[in-house]
Amino acid sequence: MRKVLFLDEKYDAIGGTQWLMQSVRRWQPVYVRTAEEALRALDEDESFDAVVVNPQSDAVNGAAFLSEVMRRHPCTVRVVLSDRIGQEELVRWLGPAHRRLSRFCSTPELESALERACALRDLLTNRSLQQTVSQIKSLPSLPAVYAELVEELQAPQPSVRKVGAIIARDVALTAKVLQVVNSAFFGLRRRITSPAEATMFLGLDAIVSLVLAINVFSQFEAQRLPRFSPAALWAHSLQTGLFAKRIVSMERQSDKSAEEAFTAGLLHDAGKIVLATTLPEWYEQALALTHKEVVSLAEAEQEVFGTTHAEVGAYLFGLWGLPDQIVEAVAFHHRPLDARADEFCALTAVHVANAIEHEGRAERAQVDADYLDALRLTERFTVWQRACAKARVGPDQPEEP
Ligand SMILES: [Fe+2]
Ligand SMILES: [Fe+2]
Repeated sequence: MRKVLFLDEKYDAIGGTQWLMQSVRRWQPVYVRTAEEALRALDEDESFDAVVVNPQSDAVNGAAFLSEVMRRHPCTVRVVLSDRIGQEELVRWLGPAHRRLSRFCSTPELESALERACALRDLLTNRSLQQTVSQIKSLPSLPAVYAELVEELQAPQPSVRKVGAIIARDVALTAKVLQVVNSAFFGLRRRITSPAEATMFLGLDAIVSLVLAINVFSQFEAQRLPRFSPAALWAHSLQTGLFAKRIVSMERQSDKSAEEAFTAGLLHDAGKIVLATTLPEWYEQALALTHKEVVSLAEAEQEVFGTTHAEVGAYLFGLWGLPDQIVEAVAFHHRPLDARADEFCALTAVHVANAIEHEGRAERAQVDADYLDALRLTERFTVWQRACAKARVGPDQPEEP
């Protein structure tokens, strides 16, 4: 049975959270009223899987509390119930909280959020993954320009001009952004000539995702492995991101969800470039295996590393503090059922977009029929497939960024 600690100063009162866990059998809740009590409980008992904070008054400085939990117990899942958090406060919460839910969420919603966050945590703390990651001498840190852009994005009124100016300071990045935006993938009739114009055209969220992906791909100067093409991987990633965004829009989800899916699609295979760059001899072995035996690349990686590019990428993005939904989509894009998500989400879009993008290529990626069935989305697949086929960009792929 999993254990969850509730920090809820209104425990036992109307507006408290104890009712949320009444019908949940697989979780054992423990309630405390103050941050001090909560930290003591977590320090004394390492078996807590998750902590849920219900901030109801300023007495509980939830953001500071969760930051402290993150520092002392980084593997404990952190959830915040947050209706009364204002926009500005929310920004401070986003880093330390894995998931944010409404205080009026239902029991199944909370249970599902806890299960999903734990499934991701379990995957990212798995031993083979940890061993592989420990062999990578230096994992890169989050690109500084990305942090700056996100800060602007979270301003009360983010400015296209400022975002453009941040990108324009970096000449190499500017050249790459313009190259990508002017490529066939975006099908523009006229040429975009400045980062501000590119931001206007793509939108603030999308340009920031693109900058992140370009940075990830260029930070890892992949050694020239004979069977590995960073340019082809970049084209595949960009196309998958665009397909994923299209699929989310077709499901009439929010713009924010579409942007999350775009980012996750752009980044879903970044673990490949991390592995090919940092452990090239091993990666070459995995690539060779796919030629010798009828196995997918993910299966070959599993055989060689005991983990796959999906997990390595997710691990890196988890370290960088990217939103959990994006980390989840990257982590489980080849085995979505394991994510324990029971509704359409960024993972669904990326899993499907990746499979559609692979159609007709030597390296196949199957869509998981059981997963779509469980989500009752089997019939939607053909509709998505048709829409993506129409939007697919021809064989002239852009150069690697
Ligand atoms: Fe993949
Ligand atoms: Fe892929």
